[in-house]
Amino acid sequence: MGERVVVITSCSTGIGLSTAVQLAKSEAKKYIVYATMRNLAKKGPLVEKAGDTLNKNLFIIEMDVKSESSVKAAVKKVFNARGRIDVLVNNAGVGMVGALECQSMDSIKNIYETNVYGVIHCIKAVLPSMKKKESGQIITVSSGAGRFGVPLCAAYCSSKHAISGLTESLAPTLKQFNINISVVEPGPVSTEFTNTVRSIGFSGIEDGDEKTKKLVESFTSSMDKIVTKAQKGEEVAECIQKVVETEIPNVYYTTSPALDAMTAKKYVDITGNSFLTSFPQYLK
Ligand SMILES: NC(=O)c1ccc[n+]([C@@H]2O[C@H](COP(=O)([O-])OP(=O)(O)OC[C@H]3O[C@@H](n4cnc5c(N)ncnc54)[C@H](OP(=O)(O)O)[C@@H]3O)[C@@H](O)[C@H]2O)c1
Repeated sequence: MGERVVVITSCSTGIGLSTAVQLAKSEAKKYIVYATMRNLAKKGPLVEKAGDTLNKNLFIIEMDVKSESSVKAAVKKVFNARGRIDVLVNNAGVGMVGALECQSMDSIKNIYETNVYGVIHCIKAVLPSMKKKESGQIITVSSGAGRFGVPLCAAYCSSKHAISGLTESLAPTLKQFNINISVVEPGPVSTEFTNTVRSIGFSGIEDGDEKTKKLVESFTSSMDKIVTKAQKGEEVAECIQKVVETEIPNVYYTTSPALDAMTAKKYVDITGNSFLTSFPQYLK
């Protein structure tokens, strides 16, 4: 296989930035990376890490995944320059923690517009050409929260569960076109993510009842402890590169063995009841 053209969403920070750099600097396999971000004013950290790959095989372009026209314009730009997209990495995503009834509908819609519709915009934009050439690969960065419920993350969890359903539904049909579609599920990763979760997630909690407020507080302090053991964005980027380089990739990949144990637990209990007691340390 020669050089592959890769489009990655949300490369201003975190996992997206690490993946763009990881693939652009790959020695063994060659990639032409289109690292997208919604706000080009935030390209500084990527420019710095990209080093001499910048504008050689790593190109930074604008894309807001919430906007269908922005996604189409970015995809068109890549097609005009390269004539094809071989790999799409849907990485953009936002999180939110808190009590569902306290969160505004606008903040819940923002989760779905980014994590679900954003992914759908990107997949819709690349599929016709991938089907036409009967090859391609789509990877979506989801989360352990996309396969089992995590308390006090209802909007985020349900948006990431949607990615599992979307992928499982598309996978068999896309196989007929030699297109592989996979989900990569990280556990906690030390990126800006948790700070963003805090800044948007707890809004409205002051209107909650006292018992819920205490549970959210307890969950937050547990989250702080977990984050100290978080993976690095680079580790997730390495996992994504392995998936990109696997000839026949799996549908699911987790980046941490702890998530495998939780997922396995879910699949042996079809009643779902074991999850009622799975998070005692979070909800005291
Ligand atoms: N970090 C974790 O603990 C963790 C765990 C499991 C899964 N994940 C998943 O990993 C993915 C990447 O997260 P991360 O940890 O790298 O978080 P991050 O550092 O907060 O990065 C999130 C990125 O999404 C971008 N973004 C938000 N809305 C966007 C939009 N409408 N269009 C384009 N980009 C948009 C942000 O851009 P701006 O800079 O413009 O805001 C930022 O670059 C997400 O899908 C997340 O759900 C993360």
